[in-house]
Amino acid sequence: MQTTEDPSIASIIGNSPQILDLKQAVLKIAPRNTTVLLTGETGTGKELFAQALHQGSLRRFKPFVRVNCAAIPENLLESELFGYAEGSFSGGKKGGYLGKFAIADGGTVFLDELAELPLTLQAKLLRFLQEHEIQRLGESMPRRVNVRVVAATNANLAQLVKYKKFRSDLYYRLNVVTLEIPPLRNRREDIPLLCQSFLKPLNVEYDYRVYRLSEGVKHLFDSYPWPGNVRELHNALEAAFHLFDGGQEIRMEHLPQFLRQWHSEQVQEEAQLDQDVHPVILTVDEAEPIFALNKSGTDSEKSGTDSEGSRPELGEFLHWQHYASMIGTHPLAEIMDEMEAEILRYLLAHEPNRSHLAEVLGISRQALYKKMHKYFV
Ligand SMILES: Nc1ncnc2c1ncn2[C@@H]1O[C@H](COP(=O)(O)OP(=O)(O)OP(=O)(O)O)[C@@H](O)[C@H]1O
Ligand SMILES: [Mg+2]
Repeated sequence: MQTTEDPSIASIIGNSPQILDLKQAVLKIAPRNTTVLLTGETGTGKELFAQALHQGSLRRFKPFVRVNCAAIPENLLESELFGYAEGSFSGGKKGGYLGKFAIADGGTVFLDELAELPLTLQAKLLRFLQEHEIQRLGESMPRRVNVRVVAATNANLAQLVKYKKFRSDLYYRLNVVTLEIPPLRNRREDIPLLCQSFLKPLNVEYDYRVYRLSEGVKHLFDSYPWPGNVRELHNALEAAFHLFDGGQEIRMEHLPQFLRQWHSEQVQEEAQLDQDVHPVILTVDEAEPIFALNKSGTDSEKSGTDSEGSRPELGEFLHWQHYASMIGTHPLAEIMDEMEAEILRYLLAHEPNRSHLAEVLGISRQALYKKMHKYFV
């Protein structure tokens, strides 16, 4: 029976609810023969998940064959996937070629960058998924192969279907079991664990013993958007080892230039925004502190003095009737924007600490500043 101790599952690091759910799904799906579609931005771990699916089934005793659909020229892709018979084209190998599907017989074919698969081959892949048969170039008899297909893409297949760049029948065939791997910026709680697991082998490789990140680096890692996801995080740490000069922790100056640059731009931008937004916020009448926000956003000092008891609360402050009157005449998005702006204006007037306010609202400081910019500058 599979457990979370399965080494390939264990190599997927993360304890965010999204990753835990995905690991559960892998444990459940891996032993079955279902075709699986892995989606997610670059560097999110699609290949890692593909391998976990392979390792989690009895197919692990047979080959895991990766095909990068983007890297093989279109005219060679068909023979690469399905093989060819000897003499079927000039320049072909003596004895012909089995093709990746036949090589993977009993195992898994991992079709990476699936969106790059040309339309003609999409039709052949669909046929394979339905019939489990391949036909080599230059042969008339199809051959049966037992292969599980796991495909990955960072493209939006539904959109490609709309633009007729991807066959809808193949899309629906593949979309039965889809594992969507979220970007790292949406599961930031995984970052410390990922760093920890990357630091171990990097210390061995570079002969250091540094297991801590400075507070500044932690803060930066927690706010940077990580467009390259886990791969980018790993590369940033590896780059830090190149610049590391001994000591207790990895500090800002060890990080690659682009990250330091991003950080200083952020600091400047925040300072500028603070300056731009501040006068607007102060125009709110109730600018004196009304309550100290706690994590759940409730009034933590409500039970204080009489004067505190009489202070207005957000519920009274919001112009509910105004929003109600907008319903039917304004799009919902516009109503929500106005309401969000009013809530923010109120909270910003009463909570000068932006980090605290962002935490209370459950958003990053950057997100808060973006909203401030959107509504008040
Ligand atoms: N959750 C994770 N735990 C540990 N390592 C991870 C995790 N996710 C990704 N990685 C590591 O990050 C790197 C990128 O992962 P992978 O190659 O699987 O990404 P990908 O989604 O296939 O990216 P691309 O779309 O660019 O091909 C690999 O070194 C992988 O081991
Ligand atoms: Mg990949």
